[in-house]
Amino acid sequence: MSDRPLYIEIEHASKAFGEGQKRNVVLRDFSLDVRKGEFLTFFGPNGCGKTTLLNVIVGVESLDEGSVKMNGGTSRPRVGYVFQDYRGYLMPWLTVAENIAFPLRIRGVSKPERMSKVEAVVARFQFRIDLGAYTYALSGGQAQLTSILRALILDPDILIMDEPFSALDYQTNLSLYEKVLQIWEATGVTILLVSHDIDEAIYLGERTVFLTKRPASVAAVLESKLPAQKELTQMGSEAFASMKKQALEIFRREALEKSA
Ligand SMILES: Nc1ncnc2c1ncn2[C@@H]1O[C@H](COP(=O)(O)OP(=O)(O)OP(=O)(O)O)[C@@H](O)[C@H]1O
Ligand SMILES: [Mg+2]
Repeated sequence: MSDRPLYIEIEHASKAFGEGQKRNVVLRDFSLDVRKGEFLTFFGPNGCGKTTLLNVIVGVESLDEGSVKMNGGTSRPRVGYVFQDYRGYLMPWLTVAENIAFPLRIRGVSKPERMSKVEAVVARFQFRIDLGAYTYALSGGQAQLTSILRALILDPDILIMDEPFSALDYQTNLSLYEKVLQIWEATGVTILLVSHDIDEAIYLGERTVFLTKRPASVAAVLESKLPAQKELTQMGSEAFASMKKQALEIFRREALEKSA
């Protein structure tokens, strides 16, 4: 992995919301390097600052201290963002195709061109989805596929996914894991995925970053011991069990001992 170029450098990032007594420190001295093409997962307790961290990385939120540098500071990468509340970001009055195409629409791309781009991305990643349906009528899994496709439509350099699977059933999740891995392998996109499911985080990530309670900083980073070519059955392997043991030790240290 170290032969891949350094891509995102987060250095001593600190961020608080509010003033005076209402001041809420969310990130404190958060430092992390991400390499180009890396699949990184983040695991942390509720409300610790995961979404804020993602927003700081993409520049939607500013920092009080520290810095985030992309690509050596040369250019801003294109970002595809799958929001935590993905249903809330779908437009129920538009079809699946028009929801996926929305980033093109706001860039003034014509309807025929939008539709051909949507069909191309659906075919490229072999998604099974009804493009003519309205999003209010979709199952959770189909709604999530729509928001993933929308994040892919501009051919992003970085794909941000904020708890993308937390509201879905187990079987849907397993099929989406495969889909996301397939997208990652086919495109070489850098993926930053937040999860509150340990199995999911350590299965998908090449590295998993464990966050402390708020204010969030890096508690530990766990390297994957799984083969590069992932298969769901690896969740039953000894390598997986040993990673999970390590993860639980980190989790126990952070969640239990530090609050004692
Ligand atoms: N725009 C904002 N203004 C004020 N406070 C905010 C804002 N965004 C987040 N916060 C606060 O920052 C803290 C961290 O929120 P954040 O959403 O980043 O956590 P999270 O780890 O993503 O939470 P969850 O597990 O619920 O997804 C919370 O206390 C939240 O209330
Ligand atoms: Mg969040």
